[in-house]
Amino acid sequence: VIRALLDWIDDRTGAVSAVKDFFDEEIPASAGWHQVFGSVALFLLTVQFLTGVLLAVNYAPQPETAYYSLQYIVNEVTAGRLMRGLHHWGATVMIVIVVLHMVQAAIWGAYKKPREMTWVAGVLLLLLTMAFGLTGYLLPWDNKAYWATVVTLQISALPPVAGDLTLRVLGSEEGTVGAATFARFYTLHTVVLPAITAALAVFHVALVRRHGVAPQPGDESKPKKKFYPGQVFKDTAAVFAVFVVLFALAAFVEAPLGQIADPNDTAFVPRPEWYFLFLFQILKFFEGSLEIVGAVVLPTLAVLALAALPFIDRSRFQRVGERLTAMAIVAVAGLVWGVLTWAAVVTTPDQAEGPGGGDWARLTPAQLAGGLHFTERNCDSCHNVVSGEPKAGPTLALVIGARQSADWVAGHIAEHGGAPRNVREALITFAAEITPERGLWLAEAPDFGLQGAAIYEKNNCGMCHVVNGAGENLGPPLNGVGGRRDPAWLAGHFRDPQAFVPESTMPPYPFDDDEMESDRRLYDGPAVKTAYLRGALRIQPPPITTSPS
Ligand code: HEC
Ligand code: HEC
Repeated sequence: VIRALLDWIDDRTGAVSAVKDFFDEEIPASAGWHQVFGSVALFLLTVQFLTGVLLAVNYAPQPETAYYSLQYIVNEVTAGRLMRGLHHWGATVMIVIVVLHMVQAAIWGAYKKPREMTWVAGVLLLLLTMAFGLTGYLLPWDNKAYWATVVTLQISALPPVAGDLTLRVLGSEEGTVGAATFARFYTLHTVVLPAITAALAVFHVALVRRHGVAPQPGDESKPKKKFYPGQVFKDTAAVFAVFVVLFALAAFVEAPLGQIADPNDTAFVPRPEWYFLFLFQILKFFEGSLEIVGAVVLPTLAVLALAALPFIDRSRFQRVGERLTAMAIVAVAGLVWGVLTWAAVVTTPDQAEGPGGGDWARLTPAQLAGGLHFTERNCDSCHNVVSGEPKAGPTLALVIGARQSADWVAGHIAEHGGAPRNVREALITFAAEITPERGLWLAEAPDFGLQGAAIYEKNNCGMCHVVNGAGENLGPPLNGVGGRRDPAWLAGHFRDPQAFVPESTMPPYPFDDDEMESDRRLYDGPAVKTAYLRGALRIQPPPITTSPS
């Protein structure tokens, strides 16, 4: 009965013989374990599609809701955490497998005539995989997602002409991330990229079938094998092994979800996915107008070179053991990638600690300056900030609720020796805004940061500038100014703003060299210096409401 049914189906659709042909395909005698990566990649692609759909049915794709719906998915939806884990770690495992697949093809010379187009399609699939990573990174809408995307947009904006166009296509004005950009990224990630990837994957696999598995010299004299059962077993075993690893990751390692995106948190140092880290490390070598070389020109050349590999290396097939040059090139590429990634990892601050290895750069200038005066004016003889030996006065960060009014504190300061107006005001702000968390950040603040903040406060720069969300907007916000201006420019500009910006309303400040140094470093200090892209904070985007509606 079953045979009759299968025959009936086969007569009408050809499906059964297609499957049979698929399993009966002849493969060279040398085929083996090294050829399993393609099947594993295909399997992972399927996992991404399925988990992606399952995530999408509970995900609310808008800046206002995305973060909360993701929290709902992980905390309340049945197996939601597992789905997200599979999708998150699946992307990572996918990159690893795709790269291994390409390394195998490169070392074995599988890209050679007549398989050039198979290779080119493979390179495109690699780029698509990365594009998935890039667009998917924004969707959780946490701080990391937001700020990394700001950097992505800044890089996209670099190429002349094409840059503006890309920004427009991505729905971004001047590199900001708003509702339009979010919609574009979401559409790319869930509609456009999957469609292109599916089509290209089919094309790639069809080409592999058409040309067959690449043979090794010597295969001609040996009898061919069938795909089934030997290779099918190997592929299945590899898929199974990878799935076990992926499942374990998804079950036991929580996919990160940080604080909700805060467009005003300009001190946040964004960090890309680990496989992009090397690119951002390269960027650090290129300053100012050369940025475009590191961000656009080099990567483009590298991709072109990779795609052109079959047309560059046109030598005949060789045994793997003899392909020493190929192995050397792959080894060097791997080494360079490894070193760059390692360098990026050790120089990027741990996000848990915040920018520059310390969250102090998140404090406003008044809070920092207040902290400095607090010790300089001996307030700490009677008060602790967060903790310490019991003292005569209250521990300021722990005063919750009924704090004394500004007038009261002003009087209290007058009783304890008095202080010039700017010092008094910084102390009052400090006393009003200090929390245990900020107290800990303050404890890490380096001297130049404190001194710079005091100079800033003394000169009332906040009358015209915003730093970390505090101040007025008569002049530009100063976060990340170190990324867009070099030290000489800043020093000269302080002495004579109009010499640099003729219509400037900023008064001149004849700082001495010490003051100049700390004042400059206050804004471009750790936040920018250790940012993986100098100028990551270049743009102060307009606030977006992120509260749940
Ligand atoms: C001789 C000890 C002493 C010194 C020095 C001192 N304080 Fe106090 N401070 C106190 C005591 C005691 C209180 C508790 C309130 C009171 O006065 O009854 C207090 C209260 C305060 C409060 C109010 C906390 C609340 O409940 O809201 C603030 C703010 C404050 N001090 C800030 C300062 C600052 C700033 C300085 C440095 C200019 C300073 N204090 C120096 C002893 C001191
Ligand atoms: C009266 C308002 C005003 C005050 C006060 C003021 N600035 Fe400015 N500042 C401006 C304006 C307007 C600009 C933009 C034009 C320019 O670059 O000169 C500017 C530009 C700057 C820039 C360059 C920003 C950029 O992105 O190119 C820096 C740095 C700067 N100010 C620092 C300071 C510091 C530090 C202080 C205090 C010591 C200060 N400013 C005080 C109005 C002011």
